[in-house]
Amino acid sequence: MNDSKSQPLLLGEAIRQQFPFFGDNPALPSDRRRIVPAYLDSAATSQKPRCVIERMTRFLSYENANIHRGAYQLSGVATENFEDARARIADFIGASSPNCIVFTRGTTDSINLVARALEPELSEGDAIVLTLLEHHSNIVPWQLLAQRKRLKLYFADISDQGVLNLDDLAQKIAATKPKIVSVTHVSNALGTLVPIKAVCALAHSVGATTVVDAAQSVSHMALDVDDIDCDFLAFSGHKLYGPTGVGVLYGKEQRLAALEPVYGGGGMISSVSTEKTTWADAPQRFEAGTPPIAEVLGLAAAVEFVRQLGMAQIEDYEEKLLYAAMERLAREKAITLYGPALHGGEQKGIISFTIDGVHPHDFSTIADTFNVQLRAGHHCAMPLLKRLGLQSTARISFGLYSIMDDVEALCEAVHFAQKKFS
Ligand SMILES: Cc1ncc(COP(=O)(O)O)c(C=O)c1O
Repeated sequence: MNDSKSQPLLLGEAIRQQFPFFGDNPALPSDRRRIVPAYLDSAATSQKPRCVIERMTRFLSYENANIHRGAYQLSGVATENFEDARARIADFIGASSPNCIVFTRGTTDSINLVARALEPELSEGDAIVLTLLEHHSNIVPWQLLAQRKRLKLYFADISDQGVLNLDDLAQKIAATKPKIVSVTHVSNALGTLVPIKAVCALAHSVGATTVVDAAQSVSHMALDVDDIDCDFLAFSGHKLYGPTGVGVLYGKEQRLAALEPVYGGGGMISSVSTEKTTWADAPQRFEAGTPPIAEVLGLAAAVEFVRQLGMAQIEDYEEKLLYAAMERLAREKAITLYGPALHGGEQKGIISFTIDGVHPHDFSTIADTFNVQLRAGHHCAMPLLKRLGLQSTARISFGLYSIMDDVEALCEAVHFAQKKFS
């Protein structure tokens, strides 16, 4: 959790040299109206710095061996590096021990895993409380669990501005005494920052287990799981400048130790006989089979990258950029902005909007001809959009390499689209 606050600002334009994507990029078509990409889809997945790519390439080229298995030196070194990555990632989110970190395939996998692992603790009629801000990844695994165990799901309401209604959440928690409360830290569709510590305290007041979906917060702000006091927390590597195929399920050490495994196979056992198998301790108990070793090393390199830049600096830079972008977009008469920042609420890294007379999907296709990459649709948050009376929005999202020029390029595309559709 050590932020290097004294470093000169190296974000935005200055950091781009460390991302091959922003260099001479052979993957981007040359017929675009702008040469420099305005990549405004970091909430979907972030671009990767050279240090991550190089770390993975080094492992795959020279250090490749399976972990926890071989008695030879190469395997021992791979195991050491893998476990060192676990320790660094634990430290990055303020976890008390590396044993709190389970490697998964991503946020979706982490939430499905914890839903499966908690299943034996639940009985017919038990309640689970979610909110209307959730990504489908934090809805569907609970719905599947509810179907299997005949549970009841409740969704805490939000305001018309997309802010979580804490009174409604408190009321639902008090009325239903849920066994689980699972809530996003930052909404992927609106950027709404949820007061997650307060949510966890409310849930714990009735003895509920808390699960936090940190997919959209982990890259924008320092996380401290001890301070949040959540039981479980999930995030993906690829939204944190790391590779796809790896994610994290954090769990309090004593909670993980008390859970039965979900997947069976090699690596998660203590002993196996034809009659009886005993489990390894957590976290290995939840990591059956060969893990994504190169990806875990890549994620640790990404964590080291943002840590050296300083999470506090990243948060500060992105906050200034977000407010400047909101102001700039608000000057475009055809644009309607959504999200809490307009109304004094807190919003992280994401801006959702619509353009009069232009469907978000059409806009996204037109913006692409300007080399502006953004997302259009329901953002895997259909209940949220329905609550706001929307079917689809255009969404831009920032990373630590984003700059106001990206927003200006977006505005050019808006003008072009308006002319085309008027
Ligand atoms: C808030 C939130 N939760 C969960 C997910 C799922 O992440 P993944 O697809 O990496 O599993 C996303 C992805 O966009 C997200 O934004």
